[in-house]
Amino acid sequence: MRSALLYSTALVASITSAVPTGKRDFSPDNVYFPLPNGFPNPNAGQVLEIQKQAHGTLPNGPPPPTLSPEGITNLKLIALNELFEVAFFTELVYNLTNKVQGYDLGYGHDYVLDALSAIVAQEELHALNANGALSHFNQEPIQPCKYSFPVTDFQSAIALAGTFTDLVLGTLQDVNQLFAQGGDAGLVRAVSSVIGNEAEQEGFFRLVQKKRPSSQPFLTTATRDFAFTAIQSFTIPGSCPNINTIPLKTFKPLTVETTNIAAQTQALKFSFAKADAGLYQVDQLKLVYINGQNLPIVEPLISVNTAGDKVVFEAEFPYDEYLMNGLTIAAVTTAADSFADADAVAKATIFGPGIIEID
Ligand SMILES: *[C@@H]1O[C@H](CO)[C@@H](O)[C@H](O)[C@H]1NC(C)=O
Repeated sequence: MRSALLYSTALVASITSAVPTGKRDFSPDNVYFPLPNGFPNPNAGQVLEIQKQAHGTLPNGPPPPTLSPEGITNLKLIALNELFEVAFFTELVYNLTNKVQGYDLGYGHDYVLDALSAIVAQEELHALNANGALSHFNQEPIQPCKYSFPVTDFQSAIALAGTFTDLVLGTLQDVNQLFAQGGDAGLVRAVSSVIGNEAEQEGFFRLVQKKRPSSQPFLTTATRDFAFTAIQSFTIPGSCPNINTIPLKTFKPLTVETTNIAAQTQALKFSFAKADAGLYQVDQLKLVYINGQNLPIVEPLISVNTAGDKVVFEAEFPYDEYLMNGLTIAAVTTAADSFADADAVAKATIFGPGIIEID
């Protein structure tokens, strides 16, 4: 099975340069919901069907007696993220089922489709669980947005899934930490079980990209603000009905200009919009990397230049010293020589997250 799957994905890689149709049958006008199964508001019978497709049920124990304010924000962010993931994977399954140009895998097609169908339903249950808990605590459930995904072939869709799932795997660490700090211990076990589920998915996405299934011994951490910002890069601006009820920060965009980054120490090129530079003394800002469970790495901005409407600069990427595999989050922060942890980085961040994936 493994070699057959790898063979088929290699074939796909060779046809991805085909001109995309650009036709969006599945999501006219970028509207994804409600799905035919009623999601995000399925009735009881529809929930039973989703559970069958997910190969398991929603947790049926009682919710914890209380939920802290940070705990509420955690659940809102989880719901926002899971809704986005359901939109993405539902469209991916649609593209594969209909063998849309760029999505006909030939041999291995059925295995991939079966895996992704389970993932869609599992993500639907994650979303229903988070929104259900919000309702239980008298909070407005998070509603879906309109979305647009920058992919038109299977390989780039899976690479994107692997990247945002890595960011989720980092952010759920932050969520669990905040639950623990806020006295919400009753939710840590369930969220940890979701981390495991998302990591199983990640192993599959990595295999399909011919990467080894496990990226690094301690997965990269992230914070909620980085995930909140990243999710919004896939939503149509102004289309999220109640995103304003989520009290998290949205950073200004940071672009990683270097592509196909090799596993070696090198200078990487980044940019941000000149219009966003505002009154900052750009040459005093820092470029910070978060990878694994290590202390944030702080680098100076070098060769700062203005090119058209962009500010372009470089920063050393010290791969060899820290073995920066898997996800690395880059952020441009206000001046500091060191940061105690990812939270301190997020507090000082102006531009980010820049997303780097190695191996
Ligand atoms: C599905 O295919 C359409 C048409 O190429 C594309 O616009 C869309 O981004 C694809 N979605 C996913 C999740 O691959």
